Amino acid sequence: MVPVRHLRSFQSTEAMSEPSDRANPSAADPPVEGAISRRAGGALRTTNNRALVVGNSDGIGLEFTRRLLQTGWDVTGVSRRAVNLDHEQYRHVVVDIRSPEFCGELVKLCEAPFGLCVYCAGIGEAFDPTGLDADAATVHVNFLGMVQTAAAVVPAMVAAGQGHFIGLSSIGDGVSPDAPAYSASKAGVSSYLEGLALALRPHGVYVSNVRFGFVDTKMAKSPVKPMMISVDRACAVLARVVRDRPAVSSYPKRMAALVWLVNLWTALRVKLA
Ligand SMILES: NC(=O)c1ccc[n+]([C@@H]2O[C@H](COP(=O)([O-])OP(=O)(O)OC[C@H]3O[C@@H](n4cnc5c(N)ncnc54)[C@H](OP(=O)(O)O)[C@@H]3O)[C@@H](O)[C@H]2O)c1
Repeated sequence: MVPVRHLRSFQSTEAMSEPSDRANPSAADPPVEGAISRRAGGALRTTNNRALVVGNSDGIGLEFTRRLLQTGWDVTGVSRRAVNLDHEQYRHVVVDIRSPEFCGELVKLCEAPFGLCVYCAGIGEAFDPTGLDADAATVHVNFLGMVQTAAAVVPAMVAAGQGHFIGLSSIGDGVSPDAPAYSASKAGVSSYLEGLALALRPHGVYVSNVRFGFVDTKMAKSPVKPMMISVDRACAVLARVVRDRPAVSSYPKRMAALVWLVNLWTALRVKLA
């Protein structure tokens, strides 16, 4: 999800067509299975095939959990709803990230270290000037929950000298008058993950900040969703991130460039306000 009010004038037939990686045309998305199994067969980056996916009862987290299982990962999922995934290498913990039990559950889960952690949980609402009650919840689920997850998962990765922590941020991680709390939470996510990526690399641990534009899930509530990608495409991007472990991955690139321009306009508005 990204702020949309300023994007409407940019909407065009081209913008609504299938995204391409214009900035890096050779980097076509690999099929998800190919991307992960190539990793599993020969070019293993970790000897630990245990993965933790937080926020996987729906959307990107649910589909990526399925694909990790298909490619041999042993997956633990965490979300506030149960998940109907019947697989011998899957276990699920139902807990609300905003509940006092969340950190305790994570500590229990991390008694055995994870080789991969993907933080997919997120919420977002349009701004309501008559009440900012939802804003604290948005920051809690999107940002604080991810920081708490890193605190539980990363020390064991550092001790093992290997591991990969991925967080889902957003191309909309700049200043937004449409959804200030969502954008602020994602600004925190991006800044934290990119700082962690630099800090942890010498310890053998990789951290990736994944910045999507619109993805076709219940999260994308805006009436206008330029360059929206499918959940399948988002999972293919994630698979590539698991394989290549970049510090940051923004997709679609054209959407990132467009929002970068909008952010310049917003910065000017802030200066003049
Ligand atoms: N979709 C987009 O357009 C888009 C764009 C850029 C970035 N992203 C980011 O990608 C991530 C995944 O989003 P999505 O599109 O897959 O959204 P989604 O379909 O709504 O899935 C979000 C997941 O987070 C879980 N969750 C929310 N609040 C929770 C809580 N308090 N405790 C535990 N779990 C909780 C949800 O559980 P419930 O189903 O029970 O609510 C769900 O499993 C989010 O961080 C989102 O900000 C999405």
